[in-house]
Amino acid sequence: MDPALLDEALRDISFPGSEMVLVDSSDADDAGVIKINDELALVQTMDFFAPVIDDPYLFGQIAAANALSDIYAMGARPLSALNMICFPDDQLDVEAFRLIIEGGAEKVREAGAVILGGHSVTDNELKYGLAVNGTIHPDAIRLNHNLKIGDVLILTKPIGTGILTTALKNGVLDESDISEVIESMLLLNKEPARLLDNFDISACTDITGYGLLGHLWEMLNGLDCGVNLYVEKIPFFEQAIHFARNSHHIPGGTLANQKFNIDHIKFGDIEVWYQNLLFDPQTSGGLLISLPKGQVEEYIKTLSDYPLPVAIIGEVIDSENKIYLMS
Ligand code: CO
Ligand code: CO
Repeated sequence: MDPALLDEALRDISFPGSEMVLVDSSDADDAGVIKINDELALVQTMDFFAPVIDDPYLFGQIAAANALSDIYAMGARPLSALNMICFPDDQLDVEAFRLIIEGGAEKVREAGAVILGGHSVTDNELKYGLAVNGTIHPDAIRLNHNLKIGDVLILTKPIGTGILTTALKNGVLDESDISEVIESMLLLNKEPARLLDNFDISACTDITGYGLLGHLWEMLNGLDCGVNLYVEKIPFFEQAIHFARNSHHIPGGTLANQKFNIDHIKFGDIEVWYQNLLFDPQTSGGLLISLPKGQVEEYIKTLSDYPLPVAIIGEVIDSENKIYLMS
């Protein structure tokens, strides 16, 4: 949903809370966290959406990887999940339904969690996703807004799933043309998140619907520092650059993200088509991690078996609370 609309709709609602709540939606973090006792906290998140690709089994897997991602971003371990599916009865395709649920189950199994059940609704437009629970020690929660001056920002997946799945939907690409994009969306953020356990991480989030700049601003908003973002260091899917350069197949979410965040960003001489990519809404995107500069090299070394590019894309600086795009 358009972040500005959502902001307006929820502004005056007071949600029930308690002193056991450690993180809730007022924190603009990835997931909510409630303390069970001094040793244990429960992390909760949910996500569901219409298919980004036609293959029902792969879509189920991608939706599950995406739903699990907030659990990993917060440093938690996935524990259990519930399916949510909206399905058009009038064109009931039992096999497609089964394959979506089976794909989701496969990813939840890979994450080491269990599926307890779910809920289905008749709807004109197919949508699928999961509510996921994770566990964490209350002192180990990784928040998204603790950036420290001198930290370095690391991104663990290329950008461009939004524009490429839009091109797919518009019929100018086949699923076989974007296999590397599908592989990236299928990949759990489990490994890069787990390996962070050995480092003094300042902040972590995952890149999803608000795009790289939207999620970076969530991390930076209200802090006493700024960020230099080195745009030439950011990994993109090659075809995403092609479509963006020609201003074709720009997702609606790109423009909404731009409108919502434009005041916080100094674009320098970065061209509009390139800015569009930085606002591109991601499905099952990578982690954006803020680490002390002295630990970055060691962390990247521990990811030597990781199949995607891990890039240093920015630095937290002593400046006005803004994002500065550096070419
Ligand atoms: Co998130
Ligand atoms: Co989410």
